[in-house]
Amino acid sequence: MDAEYLAERALAARANAFAPFSKFKVGAALETANGKTYTGCNVENATYGLTVCAERVALWKAISEGERKFTRLAVATSSPHPAPPCGACRQLLWEFCGDLEIVLVSAEGRRETRSLASLFPEPFDRTFL
Ligand code: THU
Repeated sequence: MDAEYLAERALAARANAFAPFSKFKVGAALETANGKTYTGCNVENATYGLTVCAERVALWKAISEGERKFTRLAVATSSPHPAPPCGACRQLLWEFCGDLEIVLVSAEGRRETRSLASLFPEPFDRTFL
């Protein structure tokens, strides 16, 4: 599977975003080491604070299906510039996936690639416990 395929899956997932409050639609596609893809979109609600990001929906779907090894993530947003995952998602992605390759896709379809380690330097994780 290539990065372009994953970006397309994230774009398709973005179409399902439930974002009536922010109107900011996000889709994510998480690739496993055995070549499967789990997608997610952001799901908002009237309390605002219980909103779940697209990245976490994709991650929880994968973890709940027994997946434990991940290689790459694509995130498609409705931002004019490729937008990185929020801090909470960076923490969880780091703990469950390690140093993922992350493909960011803007509203206009522009792609940029980052490593999670570059977006999230000096993470707190289980090695400190
Ligand atoms: N959002 C995500 O889904 N992923 C991110 O990494 C950034 C923010 C969602 C949450 C909320 O529904 C909307 O985007 C605006 O913050």
